[in-house]
Amino acid sequence: METRECLITYLAGGVNSPVRSFKHLDREPLIVERGSGAYITDIEGQSYIDYCGAWGSLIHGHAHQTIIEQATDFLKKGSSFGITTAIEGELARFINYLMPSMEQMRFVCSGTEATMTAARLARGFTGRSYIVKFMGHYHGHADFFLIEAGSGVMNLNQTASSAGIPSSIIQHTLCIPFNDEKALIELFKMYKDQIAAVILEPVAGNMGVVPSSKNFMKLLRKITEEEKTLLIFDEVITGFRISKGSAQSYYGIKPDLTTLGKIIGGGFPVGCLGGRKEIMRHMAPEGKVYQAGTLAGNPVAMAAGLSSLKLLDAKNFYEELQEKAEFLLKPIEEAIRGKKACLNRVGSMFTIFFGPTVVNNSYDLKLIDNERFKHFYHAMLLEGLYFSPAQNEASFISQAHSFDDLLKTREVLLNYVYKYL
Ligand SMILES: Cc1ncc(COP(=O)(O)O)c(C=O)c1O
Repeated sequence: METRECLITYLAGGVNSPVRSFKHLDREPLIVERGSGAYITDIEGQSYIDYCGAWGSLIHGHAHQTIIEQATDFLKKGSSFGITTAIEGELARFINYLMPSMEQMRFVCSGTEATMTAARLARGFTGRSYIVKFMGHYHGHADFFLIEAGSGVMNLNQTASSAGIPSSIIQHTLCIPFNDEKALIELFKMYKDQIAAVILEPVAGNMGVVPSSKNFMKLLRKITEEEKTLLIFDEVITGFRISKGSAQSYYGIKPDLTTLGKIIGGGFPVGCLGGRKEIMRHMAPEGKVYQAGTLAGNPVAMAAGLSSLKLLDAKNFYEELQEKAEFLLKPIEEAIRGKKACLNRVGSMFTIFFGPTVVNNSYDLKLIDNERFKHFYHAMLLEGLYFSPAQNEASFISQAHSFDDLLKTREVLLNYVYKYL
């Protein structure tokens, strides 16, 4: 049976995660065979410079030799035990060194598990029910996070954004506009003493790259402290992506809890939640908030993650990444000025939006030109460039991208801008 036919026959929708299907792009999905450094190669032998990097997980590029060696060493000793291994403590200690707010943590197998557990912990710790999230932010696919929001605080008529979720499940999730100080203040007045936690992507990646404004972030920390509501930074994307100390050091804000994933697994399935000891002590077995996992803290994934973090702890790692981001993106920013497009970037994560000239929140996304994105995306694939395959996603530069790769990419992007925008 031919590969494509096999996938379509035996996998639901032919994929294991919907965006991979390229359904919204009206073309057959890529089927990748291997990756090396900044490049991926598909089963037809076509190579692409990869700016998706397993959705931001691969900050060192594909098949990095040191990470592979570390993971292989551990794999040889046994792939999984369901018993504690020393490497779990080592990775936790290293995360604490890079991100001191993570006084204690718990490893899980995905970002979804991390955010789901953080919300449960926040509810268990505060004894309150409501969780606040922001429109356009994604925190994995736990039922109560899949919300289609109303247009503001006065219209909290929310529905689930997926079939299979009873309305009773989402009744304690409140979803308000991002970067909207007034909405935040109003919401806290309406739900006084009832909000367990506010969760956010400090730099949103799942509506395309949209940073929190610094004032919004300050207000958020102030209100949550005053109201004894936990502030959860979902740093599954931003963790060790935008700086060595992640978004919390970028903004100078200490969250109560943080969720991590992607980079801390070095390409393996890992998630993590952590924060203040006083809160983490409420997790079972010490406390009453239950969580467990057969493969949680898997030693091969821990070893790959530790190796990935040690590599990014190198001198000038983020300065070099920043230099690469500016080399690639500054000329594009200049070229699209005055056109119906904009480019948002923080560190090495970026999105080019077609349609709006500014994107600060989910309302600005209403101007997105999906047909233009589709055209752009097809043109990029033909040029051998693989960006994250949706307009509301972030693309990423890795340490493995060479200046030659970036120069080629820059020329293709500039040509597109001059020809079509
Ligand atoms: C900010 C954020 N939180 C949570 C998740 C869920 O992580 P996972 O796909 O590992 O379940 C994602 C996934 O992209 C994410 O971007």
